[in-house]
Amino acid sequence: MLAEEMRSCGHEVTNEAIRAECEWNKWLLPVPLLPLLPALPLYLASSRFRRIWQRHYFQPRQAIRPLVNDDVSGFDLVLLGTPKWLYLSYPVARWLDAVGGLEGRQVACFATFCGPPLKVFEIDMLFTPLEAALRSRGAFPAGRLAISSDHHEYFFFNEMRGLFRWLSHRVFGRRLADFTLDGVVGRREAARFCRQCCEALRNLEADSSRPRNSLV
Ligand SMILES: Cc1cc2nc3c(=O)[nH]c(=O)nc-3n(C[C@H](O)[C@H](O)[C@H](O)COP(=O)(O)O)c2cc1C
Repeated sequence: MLAEEMRSCGHEVTNEAIRAECEWNKWLLPVPLLPLLPALPLYLASSRFRRIWQRHYFQPRQAIRPLVNDDVSGFDLVLLGTPKWLYLSYPVARWLDAVGGLEGRQVACFATFCGPPLKVFEIDMLFTPLEAALRSRGAFPAGRLAISSDHHEYFFFNEMRGLFRWLSHRVFGRRLADFTLDGVVGRREAARFCRQCCEALRNLEADSSRPRNSLV
């Protein structure tokens, strides 16, 4: 959808999927994330604790398949997407280590997660470490898009999805479905993000007349 929108603004777009070399068992995936659980109440309550945690937490990584675009220096804008696995998904964390040419690149980040866009638990927990990782590679964060998938892998009877649906009503007074790409807020957000990306490219274009290209 993002690629189509960018093309409709006249930009050249290349797609690349970041794929794990070998899928992990779904029940093993959360194991490296468990250390946060006892500290979660403190994490949610204290911004100071969050900043410390985000600087030092253990980000798991997963080997990825060879990339077609293993150097992104030829792209004017990179749109980097990840599902939220508490923080970054493990294959995307590996991509950030592996890909070349991030230095000086503008990178707009988009993410899917089950929940509504909760400021601390979803948005901040994902985008803050993601953007810090990008800055440490010399890239410039150029935008954020958060979309609910209204889908969660855990546990046996969709308990997590049920919890997020309840939170969505409680915190936003809206159905969780409103924050998906089929929902009114999700669609609006996606359109805003695309406008932001097109504007970033237009600003680059102002410096030269060559057509701009993006990697999604
Ligand atoms: C290990 C793991 C951790 C997850 N953590 C979160 C989370 O913190 N918050 C959330 O809303 N969803 C969480 N999810 C659910 C995924 O983010 C959600 O299913 C995502 O939208 C899947 O993206 P996809 O549909 O593009 O694969 C987690 C899923 C996994 C496997």
